[in-house]
Amino acid sequence: MRTDKRVVIISGGSRGLGQALVQDRLDAGDIVATFSRSSNSFIDQLRSADPEGARFHWEAIDGTDLDGVRTFGMNVLRRYKRIDALINNAGVGLEGLLTMTSERDIHLALTLNLESAIVLARTCLKGMLAERRGSIINISSVNALRGHKGLAVYSATKAALLGLTRSLASEVGPQGITVNAIAPGFFESEMVGHLTDAQRARIIRRTPMRAMCTTQDIVDTARFLLSTRAITGQTLAVDGGFSC
Ligand SMILES: NC(=O)c1ccc[n+]([C@@H]2O[C@H](COP(=O)([O-])OP(=O)(O)OC[C@H]3O[C@@H](n4cnc5c(N)ncnc54)[C@H](OP(=O)(O)O)[C@@H]3O)[C@@H](O)[C@H]2O)c1
Repeated sequence: MRTDKRVVIISGGSRGLGQALVQDRLDAGDIVATFSRSSNSFIDQLRSADPEGARFHWEAIDGTDLDGVRTFGMNVLRRYKRIDALINNAGVGLEGLLTMTSERDIHLALTLNLESAIVLARTCLKGMLAERRGSIINISSVNALRGHKGLAVYSATKAALLGLTRSLASEVGPQGITVNAIAPGFFESEMVGHLTDAQRARIIRRTPMRAMCTTQDIVDTARFLLSTRAITGQTLAVDGGFSC
């Protein structure tokens, strides 16, 4: 049955930024669909509070399985009959010198960070184009804007998302769909859990605002981008000025 509520897909919604985005959209009254490889207490609680999936839908999907990602998008469309917004958030932070990085890891990073985002956008657009309305937000990174030793492949995937954002925005703008990117600076999550205190201090020293950004900063930016039709094809760096 078709719902009156907004349906938002957020990839990688079990923890970190994805979890904060899921919670924000649920608090806003939207229906949220997300996937991750495994469940956790956050996902379990939402599912047990809503066993029929009236407001929350989760599937165990590995984002490097592109058929799985496509099927997930189609399942959401079949279930709720609409998709209003997509936030491509799932990502892996591949780190290491390029010469020391295996081709398998390179392939996995490209597939999750870039290809699955493209496949998910393509699938969601089927619903959005029919409605002539929608918003897509690609979560990129400050590493797409500035070079960092040891992050060549990760940076390449995140910079590619910016190209996707600009060209897709030109393509689907006439159909009422916005496409934007957020390029966050470093924020606390499992992805950066390996940073030492000295590395954190260095990042903060190099940040004009002298602080790492927070998931809330990025959630606020996503909420703003979802609320406006006037901004498309843009990248908002949410990084305390790190990329200046
Ligand atoms: N943290 C930072 O400083 C930072 C800075 C700039 C940009 N970003 C970007 O922000 C986004 C979120 O980062 P985060 O720090 O919140 O990451 P995180 O804490 O590592 O969380 C990643 C989320 O994605 C899911 N995920 C990871 N690999 C997956 C896969 N193969 N298939 C399906 N789901 C997968 C994880 O669940 P499972 O593990 O259960 O699959 C989890 O829900 C990423 O795109 C990242 O590149 C992060």
